[in-house]
Amino acid sequence: MAISGRGDTFLDHPRAVTVQHPGELLTAASILTLMRLRFLRAMHPKLSAEQLAALSARTLGHYDRSAEAFWEGTRDHDVTQNYEALLEAIEGPPPFRILDFGCGPGRDLAHFKSLGHEAVGLDGAERFVEMARAATGCEVLHQDFLQLSLPQASFHGIFANASLFHVPVQELPRVLGELREALRPRGVLFSSNPRGRDDEGFHGERYGSYHTLETWRAFLTAAGFTELRHYYRPPGKPREEQPWLATVFRRA
Ligand SMILES: C[S@@+](CC[C@H](N)C(=O)[O-])C[C@H]1O[C@@H](n2cnc3c(N)ncnc32)[C@H](O)[C@@H]1O
Repeated sequence: MAISGRGDTFLDHPRAVTVQHPGELLTAASILTLMRLRFLRAMHPKLSAEQLAALSARTLGHYDRSAEAFWEGTRDHDVTQNYEALLEAIEGPPPFRILDFGCGPGRDLAHFKSLGHEAVGLDGAERFVEMARAATGCEVLHQDFLQLSLPQASFHGIFANASLFHVPVQELPRVLGELREALRPRGVLFSSNPRGRDDEGFHGERYGSYHTLETWRAFLTAAGFTELRHYYRPPGKPREEQPWLATVFRRA
């Protein structure tokens, strides 16, 4: 069974489950998943603009205060698999313009720059922005994920390594839509997030939302992306020892 999308955002519509892009088809499985998302959303009280701002500020405050320790703890993390997953999915000849969404202190910006790409960082933690600029010489945008101001159709790829999970579910359709608009046609969104059971909230000082693969797929599809692949990390471990879900989607 399949139905046509009608061009609404799927979570806010009072009656129907639809997609943002007219003519797109939803399978029965997608419809069930989207209904599940609406249910999950209904279970959460709506966060006000003030609550969203406070939630971001608390998370970012944590990163600002622990910026040096974060750098020491993550500078040697091997995310080669993730770099390759993004770069091999981008069409056309390099160099590519890449947005490192939630770039932190700049490890991955430095890597993309070393390959000759034009890497642009984005982070909301002031200390990380300073560190990433100083370490890489790249342009680094100081922006909150919940208040983005991005150029349209600008990037060949977006690298969101361990960052998108900080977006509350309520805001995820909007933020994904903004990332889609920032990509060139057929541009690629890579993301890696700690997976979960569709729960969200504060863990210590950091807010996070933790999705199943099915839910994550439904969000991305509804935002106008097509799945290319997914995998679990770290590689070579049994699934229960792979807390990270990495996905590669193309702007449809
Ligand atoms: C787990 S760290 C990942 C950093 C880097 N991508 C890496 O892989 O090492 C999450 C990043 O998202 C940023 N971040 C979290 N919430 C944010 C928000 N609301 N707006 C902007 N940046 C945010 C943090 O400052 C931090 O750099």
